[in-house]
Amino acid sequence: MPQNSFKAGILGTGSFLPENRLTNADLEKMVDTSDEWIVSRTGIRERRIADASMTTSYMATEAAKKALIDANISAKDIDLIIIATVVPDMNFPSTACIVQANIGADNAAAFDIEVGCSGFIYGLSIAKQFIENGTYKNILVVAADTLSKITNWEDRNTCVLFGDGAGAAIVGPVENGYGILDTYIGADGKGGKHLYMPAGGSRMPASEDSVKNKLHTIHMEGQEVFKFAVKVMNTATIEILDKCGLKPDDIDIFIPHQANIRIIEAGMKRLKLTNEKVFINLDKYGNMSAASVAVALDEASKEGMVKKDNIILMVAFGAGLTWGSTVIKWNK
Ligand code: UT7
Repeated sequence: MPQNSFKAGILGTGSFLPENRLTNADLEKMVDTSDEWIVSRTGIRERRIADASMTTSYMATEAAKKALIDANISAKDIDLIIIATVVPDMNFPSTACIVQANIGADNAAAFDIEVGCSGFIYGLSIAKQFIENGTYKNILVVAADTLSKITNWEDRNTCVLFGDGAGAAIVGPVENGYGILDTYIGADGKGGKHLYMPAGGSRMPASEDSVKNKLHTIHMEGQEVFKFAVKVMNTATIEILDKCGLKPDDIDIFIPHQANIRIIEAGMKRLKLTNEKVFINLDKYGNMSAASVAVALDEASKEGMVKKDNIILMVAFGAGLTWGSTVIKWNK
């Protein structure tokens, strides 16, 4: 294939969700909350929770295996593994290296990226560069998080929001005119203080106090993140449409980060999108961090919502603060 006669596109997808369901009724027994509050403020009805022994790498491995089957390639054909996660199995080695060993991708380089909920789009953006400059042929991008392991189950402000899951994609060359048309990624570190895990790093290594004070859990100023999310949902979608020379009318399928139905509806309103064009699964899974849009893409594809030639707009935002958007012309 001569250089530049192809684009990077998605050759296959896969996802994994733990079987355990935690419903709003279950949460009513754990903290001072109600099904009515959770549904009306977030749109979430239940979420999946990993067993005590289930790791991020396990979920990522299962999603990756399905993506390999869907792309009809062997793990030995993978040149690079990128895992987006904020809950790695350990600080090091990377979860990507653990997954590499699990699936037997002996010819792959491997690294993690830590971009919060925007991680899958950042991963696609990196993969696109390596494919289109001819360095690599097949790249596995997985977004996987077990947020339940870093959730403070006594904090009603956060514990009702999150769930566990993993979504994977094999990125490789596709016919010109198809694939990842472009990506747009950004960050604003000044907003990092609104969504973070205080302890466990060099700033506050694990100690008796850090554990006692639950500092190894998600801390979030919900309203600040909400305002940022609504704003960035708008700017990141307009920016990527401009880059691709497209208009909101051209979007066939909109896959937004599944954090809050009110944020998604604000985005739909700005883009004037009707319900049939928008993929939503947050009612079943809650906010699965970077895995949200990855699992949604896999489900939209497997359920037949996404068809060849469709223009898909994906957008995500999260800890960092970060954001990312991409337009994909579906080639499968
Ligand atoms: O993936 C990216 C990261 N996260 C996000 O995108 C989250 C963005 N933020 C949000 O989605 C929303 O801000 C939340 C869903 C987190 C909160 O919704 P809100 O409408 O912004 O509520 P609030 O924080 O302003 O709280 C309103 C009230 C408060 O009570 P008072 O002070 O008015 O008496 C809270 O204490 O709701 C209370 N509250 C709850 N009540 C019942 C907060 N959490 C709960 C709860 N159940 N689980």
